[in-house]
Amino acid sequence: MRQYGNYPNVRLRRNRTSRFIRDLVAQNYLRVEDLVYPVFILEGGNRIEPIASMPGQSRLSIDKLLGLARECVDLGIRAIAIFPVIETEKIPDSIHESYNPGGLVQRAIRQLKANFPDLGVFTDVALDPYTHTGHDGVTDHMDYVLNDVTNEFLVKQALSHADAGADFVCPSDMMDGRIGAIRTALEAKGHHNTGIIAYSVKYASGFYGPFRDAVGAKKALGKSGKTSYQLNPANSDEALHEVAHDLAEGADIIMVKPGTQYLDILYRVKHEFKKPTAVYHVSGEYAMLKLAADKGFIDYNSCLLENMLAFKRAGADMVWTYAALDVARLIK
Ligand code: PBG
Repeated sequence: MRQYGNYPNVRLRRNRTSRFIRDLVAQNYLRVEDLVYPVFILEGGNRIEPIASMPGQSRLSIDKLLGLARECVDLGIRAIAIFPVIETEKIPDSIHESYNPGGLVQRAIRQLKANFPDLGVFTDVALDPYTHTGHDGVTDHMDYVLNDVTNEFLVKQALSHADAGADFVCPSDMMDGRIGAIRTALEAKGHHNTGIIAYSVKYASGFYGPFRDAVGAKKALGKSGKTSYQLNPANSDEALHEVAHDLAEGADIIMVKPGTQYLDILYRVKHEFKKPTAVYHVSGEYAMLKLAADKGFIDYNSCLLENMLAFKRAGADMVWTYAALDVARLIK
């Protein structure tokens, strides 16, 4: 029961008077164990290419990725998510590269699991790194992404990741029915314990800009957006329907993305379904914090932690963020 109006007997500021009492009454915490670090990889050896639009982040060759994985393990970060940069111009039928057992992602998974068996490895299931259009799937002559044909490729891609040892495959493509198709295929091939983190609620967002820059999809995509498959920012009920379908189809964990702009959605999803829920603090959100801090307009560390706490308060169990190393160091 709420009680109001007994001032001065009731003074809410008493519980804010000193650090110890603020800590004792705090309701939400962010732990290092809640963090997932998304990383970009490319071919070659001894390569570290800084990403201009994402200060502090780089594209790494697999040998360098292993060094980064070591850092994650030492800091207590539980999982990384890998995103490949594929030089599609050099590969004519590049879409088939997405499920090549000897492909960049598949090799990275094997190396990571061989060297750091306890570090969770999450993989992106979507075709955008492999298409010449920058779209997440196979397109027709009108640039429309074909749902069912795309699903056939996503299934192959997910299986190749599972075969290589990925712990969770993470479809980020927003095709209808892809979770069920992938789950069925994984079961049929004996991958009972390979999980699925479904990007169930992925909005058609401008905040993915720096990411598209990082993987080289920006130029290909041009003016064409992803509005025929990603969610309209004007809608919220649809987000719940997407989650309901993905859970029914076999998703183990669901995701809301972007984060900061969609805290209401995150809250509704967590409270409606009470399932393990991830939030993705996307590239544009990260870049805004970094650039404002670089200009001296905000304090990076305090704004970052406040941003992370907002996700926890809204109901996130885990947070995918490019700032994972920064956050881990701050809260250690
Ligand atoms: C593509 C994918 C995107 C992100 C993750 N997977 C971009 C997109 O849909 O265009 C965005 C992540 C970010 O902005 O940090 N399947």
